[in-house]
Amino acid sequence: MQLLSNYLKHHDTDLELVELIDTLMIACKEIALQLREGALAGILGTTSDTNVQGETQKKLDVISNDVLKKVLLDNPLVRGLASEEEDDPVFGNPNGRFLVTFDPLDGSSNIDINVSVGTIFSILEAPKDVTEEGVEMFLQAGRKQVASGYVLYGPSAVLALTTGHGVNMFTLAHTGDFLLTRENVRIPEETKEFAINMSNHRFWEPSMRNYVDDLLKGAEGPRGKNYNMRWIASMVAEVHRVLTRGGIFTYPWDAREPAKPGKLRLMYEGNPMSLLIEQAGGISSTCYSDILDIQPDHIHQRVSVALGSRKEVETLLQYHCDC
Ligand code: AHG
Ligand code: MN
Ligand code: MN
Repeated sequence: MQLLSNYLKHHDTDLELVELIDTLMIACKEIALQLREGALAGILGTTSDTNVQGETQKKLDVISNDVLKKVLLDNPLVRGLASEEEDDPVFGNPNGRFLVTFDPLDGSSNIDINVSVGTIFSILEAPKDVTEEGVEMFLQAGRKQVASGYVLYGPSAVLALTTGHGVNMFTLAHTGDFLLTRENVRIPEETKEFAINMSNHRFWEPSMRNYVDDLLKGAEGPRGKNYNMRWIASMVAEVHRVLTRGGIFTYPWDAREPAKPGKLRLMYEGNPMSLLIEQAGGISSTCYSDILDIQPDHIHQRVSVALGSRKEVETLLQYHCDC
């Protein structure tokens, strides 16, 4: 089995990018170890703080953020980072080549019940013409990402990674190495499985309600087949299922907070996951446009997300178009 860095080098990946991905994996291994200890290390539960989104921070949100921040800032390739758990970007080497945005611990409501969580990351090139430290250098559309991925901390820890040439998966071995376990992941085009938080049904747009209502009608309805449903409340785990066996995952706009485009965050949830999904042959959309084409105007901006099996997402998009 091939080591992560050897695999990347044999596939002509830029050596500095390989080094940065290796750095990220040092942090993710540390997070995986901490998660394994759980209550034994006294790291479950919440802090008294809230993040910039107004969400209560779990102890492990803060620990994971600190681990990633420290390890990344020690690498001179890093120009700066932006995190769900940091109000503002943090800057590293002024001559660093890369910017990293990340959700240090996704699905953190699952921590205390010992259910899967993950780390999501996105890598951008720092613009060469911007010398001043500021948020602007991060505000690049998702298509500009040079790599993205996640590490799912489940029964095993699995890295799903794209450097823009397909998606590969690597499993964390007891030796501490990430080893290639799935090459060139392709998402099945059709599915009978959907993931949405049904408790928000009454807050959705009519088009989303119509789509889901038709899924629920099953074989007797317009879709002509019976669907199954999953909701793990951890985007990493949901996207991993979609990459592994297909499906559709959506967290759409809803009327609970109408001014927000959605719950999920564009720069460290929507964009990195969208690149993975597109690179595996799926679609990722706001329901109205490709997520990867959005020009961000804020590092913490939110986005409506619908992603997964190509034909199923295309059907969802038809419910949203005037055609
Ligand atoms: P985070 O833990 O980083 O704040 O993200 C949680 C996100 C996402 O992973 C998941 O799909 C969604 O929130 C779950 O939201 P609900 O609790 O509203 O279902
Ligand atoms: Mn998250
Ligand atoms: Mn998070």
